Amino acid sequence: MSRRQVLAAAGGTGLLAAAASPAKAALRARRGRAAAGGGTPEQIHLTWGENPATSVVVSWASPGAAIRPAVRIGQRVIPAEPRQYTDGINGQTVWTYYARVGGLRPGATYAYAVTADNDGNAADPFSATFRTAPQGRAPFRFTSFGDLATPNAAWVLSYGQSAYAVDAVESFQPLFHLLNGDLCYADLNPTAQPDVWRDFGNNNQTSAANRPWMPCLGNHEVEFDNGPQGFTSYLARYTLPDNRVAGFGGYWYSFRIGSVLFVSLDADDVVYQDAGAFVAGPAALAPVASTSNPPIEPGTSFYVRGYSGGAQTAWLERTLAAGRGDDTVDWIIAQMHQCAISSSATGNGSDLGIRQHWLPLFDRYQVDLVLNGHDHDYERSFPVRGADLDAGTEVGTGAVVNTLRPHPVTTKDTGVFDTSRGTVHLVLGCGGTDGNLDDYGIDAAHGQRQAKVFTRANRPVPTSTPDVYARAAADAVEDATWSARRDTSTGYGIAVFDVDDPARSETGGQTSITVTQYHAVGADPVNPATGAKGAPTPDYTEFETFTLVRPRSR
Ligand SMILES: [Fe+2]
Repeated sequence: MSRRQVLAAAGGTGLLAAAASPAKAALRARRGRAAAGGGTPEQIHLTWGENPATSVVVSWASPGAAIRPAVRIGQRVIPAEPRQYTDGINGQTVWTYYARVGGLRPGATYAYAVTADNDGNAADPFSATFRTAPQGRAPFRFTSFGDLATPNAAWVLSYGQSAYAVDAVESFQPLFHLLNGDLCYADLNPTAQPDVWRDFGNNNQTSAANRPWMPCLGNHEVEFDNGPQGFTSYLARYTLPDNRVAGFGGYWYSFRIGSVLFVSLDADDVVYQDAGAFVAGPAALAPVASTSNPPIEPGTSFYVRGYSGGAQTAWLERTLAAGRGDDTVDWIIAQMHQCAISSSATGNGSDLGIRQHWLPLFDRYQVDLVLNGHDHDYERSFPVRGADLDAGTEVGTGAVVNTLRPHPVTTKDTGVFDTSRGTVHLVLGCGGTDGNLDDYGIDAAHGQRQAKVFTRANRPVPTSTPDVYARAAADAVEDATWSARRDTSTGYGIAVFDVDDPARSETGGQTSITVTQYHAVGADPVNPATGAKGAPTPDYTEFETFTLVRPRSR
């Protein structure tokens, strides 16, 4: 299928993606700097409000303090709330704003503008349009990937594909996009975190000002000296549906669209792997004097496992129980960053923590689909339910380890899967970050697919170089009997989900979601199979399509 055919099939205009170029991508990162006024809005992005059919939140940042920042929509002027913070490493003050826009009509398109009294573009302020979600059972499209980074290759793990990935979202014209963690890797550029977030926000604005982008926290959202779990940069920029858990607003949340309940989780709370902010050494990381924060010594990692004290898992159970008990909900879709299943050999792999804490709940309440990032590739599981016991092997000793290996309810790759019988997991860390991880594990003994599994924390240990520390890879392996499809041709892509038209699924019948993975062949900086060097590409072509079905709840 050619790119033109892809776009035509997708029903998108294609104009935005077709107009993309490296020069445009480079310009995009600088766009926010052009205006003179300190209150000039930039990094403008939408998220859903409490009810996506009637409310959105408009968020942005400005280079300095904005005077009377506001959103204009129709005849309304909605004053924005400020949310200011000072970066704990470089001492820079960051000015962010958000405005809740409620009282909207379902399934309607609105134009809005964002401005302030000291907006350098006040005569012609930034404006865009968005569409609210439909009310009741209705067809809609959403898209997803994680691990996006920025197009500014000056930053660690940033890469030009990040701009094309944003354009790809626009080319499919989804109702909204799920961005499943590791947004921009600011923590890997610790002395320039606000600038990395700025390049991320200005790149995303091309799509996220036109449709909500709903994020979740990943390991790279954990930043030293920015809040109790390091999430201040993220929490300042995103105003998300209220989870009503005191002290953890914005950390995890749910929302309803049509007959789908979306649940967005922070797996940092349950995973064993230690992959947050880390000082490898030999030098300490020294925050500027104005922060009064002490140097962070080599070997220090910011490990936040268990931070909610079980509050997130309790919320998840309440939310899933209410969802499955609601006969207007057919589908439950979860996003989180780290993976319960992944067989990337060069990436992180799977984590026992998610399997212990959350997979039993996904089984009990028939979660249909789980979307992950973290490993920079694409992998799909068979539907899984329950666990195979004692199926793992400890890497160091060869001893048997109980990895609670998810049990596939079928291993026939028929292309149609009944998710009332088992949960399908997708690894979608295929956004735009540098460092493709589309190299997958094989058990040399018999040629079966193999996955690495973290069953305990890989805390930093000294290396043979003085004052230099490292964290080990996963401590166990298992045969990946759950792995159905792996994209070995590239680590870049976007998943497109079409929730079916209820007119075609009468009461008592089946409902379906068609999933198509499009990939950007040739974008890998280094192809793991051939060693060939690639380059960012605007061309996203179809990799595979499959259908999820389940009985309608009424
Ligand atoms: Fe990650």
